[in-house]
Amino acid sequence: MRKSIISLVMLLFAAVAVSAQSTKAEPAAPSIVPLPTEMNVTGDVFVLTNDTRIVTEFDEKEIKFVKNALNEIMVEVFGRELKSASKVKPGDGKYILIKKDAAKKCGNEGYTLEINKNGINITAKSAAGAFYAVQTLRQIVPVQAYETPIDLQTLNLPTLKINDNPHFAYRGFMLDCSRHFWSVETIKEMIDILALHKMNRFHWHLTEDQGWRIEIKKYPLLTEIGSKREQTTTGHNVGMDGIPYGGYYSQKDIKEIVKYAQERFITIVPEIEIPGHSLGALSAYPWLGCRGEKGNYKTWSNWGVAPEIVCAGKESSFQFWYDVLEEVLELFPSEYIHIGGDESPRDEWKVCELCQQRIKDNNLKDEAELQSYVTNRIEKFLNERGRKLIGWDEILEGGVSKNATIMSWRGSEGGIKAAKSGNMAIMTPNGHCYFDYYQTTDRKDEHEGIGGYVPLRKVYALNPYEGLNPSEQRYIMGVQANLWTEYIPTPMQLQYQVLPRLGALAEIGWTNPSPENKNVDEFITRAKELSRYYYVFGYNCAKHFFEDGVQEGW
Ligand code: ACM
Ligand code: ZN
Repeated sequence: MRKSIISLVMLLFAAVAVSAQSTKAEPAAPSIVPLPTEMNVTGDVFVLTNDTRIVTEFDEKEIKFVKNALNEIMVEVFGRELKSASKVKPGDGKYILIKKDAAKKCGNEGYTLEINKNGINITAKSAAGAFYAVQTLRQIVPVQAYETPIDLQTLNLPTLKINDNPHFAYRGFMLDCSRHFWSVETIKEMIDILALHKMNRFHWHLTEDQGWRIEIKKYPLLTEIGSKREQTTTGHNVGMDGIPYGGYYSQKDIKEIVKYAQERFITIVPEIEIPGHSLGALSAYPWLGCRGEKGNYKTWSNWGVAPEIVCAGKESSFQFWYDVLEEVLELFPSEYIHIGGDESPRDEWKVCELCQQRIKDNNLKDEAELQSYVTNRIEKFLNERGRKLIGWDEILEGGVSKNATIMSWRGSEGGIKAAKSGNMAIMTPNGHCYFDYYQTTDRKDEHEGIGGYVPLRKVYALNPYEGLNPSEQRYIMGVQANLWTEYIPTPMQLQYQVLPRLGALAEIGWTNPSPENKNVDEFITRAKELSRYYYVFGYNCAKHFFEDGVQEGW
């Protein structure tokens, strides 16, 4: 987490605010996103100092990254890490105790955070729960403390008790790294942002028509050729910029990012698009296509849905997918592997002898069933290796196995259909969860975008259970926001598209998402407060959602 550069005036303001706080003023109830399940402020004050000790009852290895997260806060506030102690001694008064309660009913990601006059007590069943307690504490620490000169000696925190537990097991965010390529540093910063919001899945979109972005040792041309495009379209496919574009993640980069995410309790779900959105692969290995070497396939410079897809009639295509996935499974420990499946025009299959032969040999009705045939074989490959398949909702079209998880993006219908037929589903309907859509109707100062309109309130209005009875609701595994990056060329704009909308999505995923438990105006008050933290942490954020004006400090 980097400190932003602020003016001397801001620095003085912050110092005054914190010193005022560290004397008499009683701290207000903290504003936290996502809203904890239960919070009671008990009206007293705990004085945290840089002599406070961290004591853990977890195995050191297990709790290491929780302590790191806690100490990240302490470094921001006090300029140094807190020392550890082996136990809390009665009467010592100053400690942060992280206790393990194996029997804790609130599940693997739940926690209790109690601040009393003597110290901070975190109780969790697992390190993940303790990590989320620390993320809550990050927002309990007054925002001014992060901008205070580092010789701050004491910090007053309100005494309180929080019982907290996420509603959904899957709380995801997808980033398209193909239309635009994001550096390892940018991905890590995004992972920090996800952790702050208690999100636990990073869906990494790695292959596309516009560029293949993951090194596969067995197929070096995927990155040598397939990661590059000659140029990029300008606007909505109106011209070309004439500038070659490319980039990919080496397996070393991927290992580094997977580890970085694990240390923040985030699982990376990789996506390898099968069988469409594959011009990156086809440009490298044209024999994958229905038109083969004569296909003249080129990594795409346009945006949209390319008509070319991988041939499903050739065994060599399956061998390619298996080989690629074999390396993917080595790199990503995730139980779930995303195989895309969206927007695969099947027209080339209609005129391909081999694809038609495959349809005939397997008594398939049509090309939609041929796509299901592909999905089912890939799923079998994954299942045999102990993994599970996720696909975009198009994979439902020709029928899908009961074990496949459906990611519903063309509205909620795909997710509803999946849940009603006993498939797990992740809700990411474009009308609520597409963060590449505009967030304001006043576009005079906006970058050109893909279109659409998803303001903060619209994200918050998502009801992932809509249209489902209670027995069907249990098939909803969670929610996800998606960021496609055709019109997003810089990290600054990337964060602008994500924040503060990620706060709304995080709250739908973490706190009970039922409409009767939600108050959007109250949420916006907290989101506004959270945006001050974005500012001090150096994150860019859309500001116009403050309907009563821009927040001080921006
Ligand atoms: C998608 O937006 N094509 C999943
Ligand atoms: Zn074919």
